[in-house]
Amino acid sequence: MSSPSHILYPCVSFSLSGDETDPCAQHAAHDLFDYLSQQINERDLDIMICNTGCAQCCESGPVITVQPGDRRYEGLAQTKDIDALLDLLAAEEAAAA
Ligand code: FES
Repeated sequence: MSSPSHILYPCVSFSLSGDETDPCAQHAAHDLFDYLSQQINERDLDIMICNTGCAQCCESGPVITVQPGDRRYEGLAQTKDIDALLDLLAAEEAAAA
């Protein structure tokens, strides 16, 4: 089994109570991250998604941390932001091939 080119860790604002009252959820992160998953499949990218909890930068959400590189992308509030991130990762994936 090969390793994915990237692993994305989107903050999905989960809390122990299960409430979706945390900042990233209030910014509709779940809908955006559904879009993210759909786009990864449509583009046939070798990217894994691992949902995670609060990344401690709530005022800047929605937030995705990208590995490798330990890069954090903040303010991913619109589908065009997700598209731009995936354009970047697709270029990195192509360059590494
Ligand atoms: S709830 Fe997403 S960074 Fe805090």
